[in-house]
Amino acid sequence: MKTGPVGVIGTGKAACFVLRGCLAAGVPVAGVWGRRNTVASQLGECWQVRSFATTDSLVDRAALIVIAVRDSAIHEMATRLAVSGRPVLEHPLAGKVFAHLSGLLDDSVLEPLARSGAVCGSLHPLMTLHENSPTTGVHFFAQSRDERFFPAVLPLVEKTGNLMHRLEPSTKTVYHTAATMLCQGISASIEAARMLLKDLDDKLFREAFGPLAAETVAERMRGFDPSTLTGPAVRGDVEVGRRHREAALILPHGRVLADLYDAIGHMLETVRMPVPPSLDRCGRTGKGCPEP
Ligand SMILES: NC(=O)c1ccc[n+]([C@@H]2O[C@H](COP(=O)([O-])OP(=O)(O)OC[C@H]3O[C@@H](n4cnc5c(N)ncnc54)[C@H](OP(=O)(O)O)[C@@H]3O)[C@@H](O)[C@H]2O)c1
Repeated sequence: MKTGPVGVIGTGKAACFVLRGCLAAGVPVAGVWGRRNTVASQLGECWQVRSFATTDSLVDRAALIVIAVRDSAIHEMATRLAVSGRPVLEHPLAGKVFAHLSGLLDDSVLEPLARSGAVCGSLHPLMTLHENSPTTGVHFFAQSRDERFFPAVLPLVEKTGNLMHRLEPSTKTVYHTAATMLCQGISASIEAARMLLKDLDDKLFREAFGPLAAETVAERMRGFDPSTLTGPAVRGDVEVGRRHREAALILPHGRVLADLYDAIGHMLETVRMPVPPSLDRCGRTGKGCPEP
């Protein structure tokens, strides 16, 4: 399927990710707009794409417009795009497709554009974006109440070598909470280990603990049997836990390290233990759970 020219609104990490992916895959790019003209021009020069001084000119030349601004600015941007330049037409944006990249917000944040006749939705790349992040093999989670959105964005996703899945609006928040906990939890655990081993050489830390971290993630993602979990928390080894906490507490940021240690232990205990039969759906013990 053909992909119409892609226009990018924003000049940050996500905007660069979209531009990089399109250019690598030969997807036509209309250009880029940023609220700071100089930054947009530099980006345009860097990627050899056009930079636009106004959003209207970008929207005129693009079929699919990716709104890659920070979450708190998406609604303001949608309102601005919907009203500027075309107030006299009833559906001035008919034929245009707009996608924002937020993991948390759903398609309703683009309501002003939908009212102007555009097809709108959210298209979240499940990836931490930086200048070296991969642009292929990324899973995009798409959500929209407009069925036309999915076939409109699928060619871009597939042509750039990525995959797309649909999300219901009701699951967006929990989806993004899970993604955030996964990547921030891994980062926080690595940072905590680094703080505990503050005197260890950086290279040795990477070389020795890197394979442990990578194998733990790989093993966990291959399939998981909670009964195989081990460690002092799941064994109920209070003395080992106490000594670990003490070792953490004397370090800078010791309280944070000890709290994280406890939180990880609680989480693993919870996963390990099946829900006791005496617990009702409300999480209380005993009888008398009211019907929902
Ligand atoms: N970074 C990631 O790992 C990642 C992953 C998946 C999805 N996303 C999503 O991608 C979107 C953009 O995030 P990002 O990481 O690219 O953020 P970013 O690097 O901080 O860039 C944000 C962009 O938004 C612009 N902006 C901020 N406020 C604005 C306003 N009021 N009007 C117009 N433009 C404004 C900024 O312009 P200035 O430079 O002038 O401030 C900048 O171009 C967000 O929805 C985010 O949730 C990000």
